[in-house]
Amino acid sequence: MGLSARPPHLPAAGLGACLLAACLLGGCSGQMADQPSYKSGRIALMPASGSIPLTPNRLWATKIPPGTATASNPIAVTRAVLADGKQLYADNCIFCHGPEGRGDGRVGEVFAPRPANLHLPRLVSASDGHFYEVITNGYSTMPAFYKRLDPEQRWKIVAYVRELQHGGK
Ligand code: HEC
Repeated sequence: MGLSARPPHLPAAGLGACLLAACLLGGCSGQMADQPSYKSGRIALMPASGSIPLTPNRLWATKIPPGTATASNPIAVTRAVLADGKQLYADNCIFCHGPEGRGDGRVGEVFAPRPANLHLPRLVSASDGHFYEVITNGYSTMPAFYKRLDPEQRWKIVAYVRELQHGGK
């Protein structure tokens, strides 16, 4: 419990990512207008729900309306995707949810309620889209990742979590 002084909504490892996001969103916004693909004043169309925009203007960095993520993972789950997902899980989820997703990560100990055990029957039977939505929007005391992870990264984590639930590592 050495970490109990830290407010639950500020996980240590998130800080660097927050600063990076602040740079990308704030500090670099002047540059954005200079990019040929994004002229200021032009109407910014939102990407369709579940799409994976590759544009550099971070239109994806917003919450999604509940229930709008596609039910099943739109990216093909390959070994490479699972390897990326594992790394992304290690960087963003493991300190709360634990290496096997049992809700026993070290930072997670200070949370009430504790981070979810991803092996709960309710979560094993949940759709891929539910995980995508939880990662994107956050869930009660769990932080949202919409600013830190692009849609492809989120779906890669979803693929890896499904693997974990079925006994993979
Ligand atoms: C800072 C701690 C923390 C981090 C980091 C975190 N979570 Fe959570 N997560 C929680 C807590 C706490 C809950 C339980 C909230 C509750 O039950 O009210 C939770 C709940 C969940 C749930 C269950 C939602 C439901 O329907 O009950 C899923 C799925 C989940 N997290 C996935 C993830 C994934 C994937 C990541 C990494 C991208 C992640 N979490 C990162 C703390 C965290």
